[in-house]
Amino acid sequence: MMLSAPSQLLERNIELFNDEGWLIINPADAYFTDRLTDLSLDVLHQYFDIYAESVRVIPCTILDSRDILTTQTGIFSDQKVGKHQHFFAPFLSTPQRYSNIVIYLPKAKAHYAMLIKMAASLVQQGGSIYVVGENKGGIKSASKLLSNLGHVDKVDSARHCSLLRCEVAQPQPDFDIQQSLSYFDIAVNGQEATIASLPGVFSHEELDEGTHLLLEKLPSSLRGGILDFACGAGIIGCLLKRQFPHLNISYLDVSALALYSTAHTLAESGLTGTLMAANGLHGVDEQFNHIVTNPPFHTGIKTDYTVTKRFIADAARLITSGGNLHMVANRFLPYPGLLAETFERVQTLAQTNRFSVYQAIKV
Ligand SMILES: C[S@@+](CC[C@H](N)C(=O)[O-])C[C@H]1O[C@@H](n2cnc3c(N)ncnc32)[C@H](O)[C@@H]1O
Repeated sequence: MMLSAPSQLLERNIELFNDEGWLIINPADAYFTDRLTDLSLDVLHQYFDIYAESVRVIPCTILDSRDILTTQTGIFSDQKVGKHQHFFAPFLSTPQRYSNIVIYLPKAKAHYAMLIKMAASLVQQGGSIYVVGENKGGIKSASKLLSNLGHVDKVDSARHCSLLRCEVAQPQPDFDIQQSLSYFDIAVNGQEATIASLPGVFSHEELDEGTHLLLEKLPSSLRGGILDFACGAGIIGCLLKRQFPHLNISYLDVSALALYSTAHTLAESGLTGTLMAANGLHGVDEQFNHIVTNPPFHTGIKTDYTVTKRFIADAARLITSGGNLHMVANRFLPYPGLLAETFERVQTLAQTNRFSVYQAIKV
């Protein structure tokens, strides 16, 4: 199996991993830790896809929003594989101090800043924080932020990636994820709500234009069980529940940061809900009357619709007869054709110069 480019750079420096006491944060693949089977280490995954692949047995994890609000450790799910302890969590709070931590550089700067604070609270005094990431992913500014904790060295660079190291000489404050949550108000269809969101979550601190359009076009005839697929901060499900309290809404996302934000968004409205951590709809077997989504868009050099096709086929499998899928997407993506391959009836409910809202009905 292919190691990601940052993991290949770490593999070139495998001698760093001679001692115990490592925490790895957000590995970009499930294979680098296979190179370290003789070493006891902890791995924090904020993304369920790599977590599930790393622990190899968990297809989907169901969570109660109330448990998420009260978690002290941050851990949503954990699993031991050989000498490795894997955690699926938005954050980690433990009395343990690690001698070394490596962070895979995330896309969003604010997400990285949050991870640095978290790692600083988890590393022992005199220990090191490493950051590995693609040069074009902003490793230069990553180095600048890391230097707030101490002197930064470039350990190696190859495969268009760099590996930085910072020895943390001073004691660091405790990390409190609550301080990273931000709140913003939205209003759609005369319905207001306060949304909670963490850095690294889609449309952090603002309502996405596509999501707004979808919410405006959802019919009032929705009933029964609804899945807010790829829920992000929980905006769609929360607004629906406020508008139509009889609906039974579940919220699914691959990101622990998104699920943590959703639990807080619901709490802001005095609501609770069932949350699901999953990669796409893999491992989900519950039936729903409706699936509502602003789905993830996979970019790449060559546009690949395998993931989208798989999602559409899985959605059709989970929707009850007479139920439907509502989706907003960039209007230039070929969703109508892809939806029509699986669903009996597909309609475009709205279109702007950027987005289309589709309804796909299972007869
Ligand atoms: C376009 S955002 C929509 C978020 C939210 N529903 C909204 O409208 O603001 C897509 C969401 O898909 C999630 N996502 C990405 N890949 C996923 C996957 N494989 N399985 C489930 N969710 C995924 C992302 O974490 C993100 O929250």
